[in-house]
Amino acid sequence: MVLASLDDVIKVAARGRVIQGAVYEITLKDRPDAAAMAMKEIELQQTNEASCVQIVRELDILKRGKNCPFIVEFYGAFYKECTISIVMELMDVGSWDKLLKRAKDGKATEAVVAQVAISVLGGLQFLKDHLKIIHRDIKPSNILANTKGEVKVCDFSVSGELHKSMARTYTGTFYYMAPERIRPKKSKEYDVRSDVWSLGVTLVELSMGNYPYPKESNVYAMLSHIVNGPTPVEMDAYKEAGFTPAFVSFCESCFHKDADNRSTNKELMEHDFVGALSADKSVVLAWLREQVDSTIGTAAPALAAAAALPEATASDELKGPATVP
Ligand SMILES: Nc1ncnc2c1ncn2[C@@H]1O[C@H](COP(=O)(O)OP(=O)(O)OP(=O)(O)O)[C@@H](O)[C@H]1O
Ligand SMILES: [Mg+2]
Repeated sequence: MVLASLDDVIKVAARGRVIQGAVYEITLKDRPDAAAMAMKEIELQQTNEASCVQIVRELDILKRGKNCPFIVEFYGAFYKECTISIVMELMDVGSWDKLLKRAKDGKATEAVVAQVAISVLGGLQFLKDHLKIIHRDIKPSNILANTKGEVKVCDFSVSGELHKSMARTYTGTFYYMAPERIRPKKSKEYDVRSDVWSLGVTLVELSMGNYPYPKESNVYAMLSHIVNGPTPVEMDAYKEAGFTPAFVSFCESCFHKDADNRSTNKELMEHDFVGALSADKSVVLAWLREQVDSTIGTAAPALAAAAALPEATASDELKGPATVP
């Protein structure tokens, strides 16, 4: 897919809205039969043309994610006035935060959670090996599914300039942040094991249907809880949920507060919970059909409902995960 200009596309539906932008389903203006794509618009404040040019250039590295089955494909980045537009593969079932809300049981089975884990671990390993980056923003809204049953990650941080230019608070991300990112040790960089912590929080949320930490009245109390309080696997609700020993052990490996003791991405890929498995679209597809919509992946026009979901408002986003009990 080569996209020369934003003049070639039209917006078809809204897929999500956050504080500083929105994601739309789009198609080619002159070829309505072409496969739909997604476009994320990020509204920047106080930026200049040079900065936009640099952001678009830095985002170009995303093209290198093309060969990984676990990374949402990137088609191009553009800017107009103060808005950066990132055009990418449309994941037509949407993100896991919204899937949890739509699922009949409100949570995923361990078999599905294992599939999400395989995809995220595969995506993180690809980012490390081929782009030499860590993701920095693993959370349910950045893990997407499509009607083929594929699961892929998106929204990893490649542009330092974009990061600098975004005036918004990273509230949504804080909830999944590893303790060493909240309170860094002197002279120590965080590494891929910070993503492993975020993956652990995400998988616990998917399997329980709830963000595991108790809701705090403000973000500082929340962060203090992550740094000083019990980890998700030490909480009663998790212990009482009846997970298999393999899943419990996998989660425990993600939740060592000292990153030096935490498993690496590579080690987790060999863990009993996922090591003997490979990515299996049919497991995810069967769950999507049973839990979300029986027509997913069939010829029937099933996904109007997904596109028509009420959009998150800025204030929803500030409240953090939708599933906080
Ligand atoms: N490629 C895509 N295909 C389909 N839906 C998408 C795609 N990318 C994002 N979305 C939808 O748009 C919503 C908003 O995405 P967006 O990335 O703007 O917000 P977020 O993930 O909540 O926050 P962040 O900016 O920290 O990543 C997502 O929750 C998801 O439902
Ligand atoms: Mg996102």
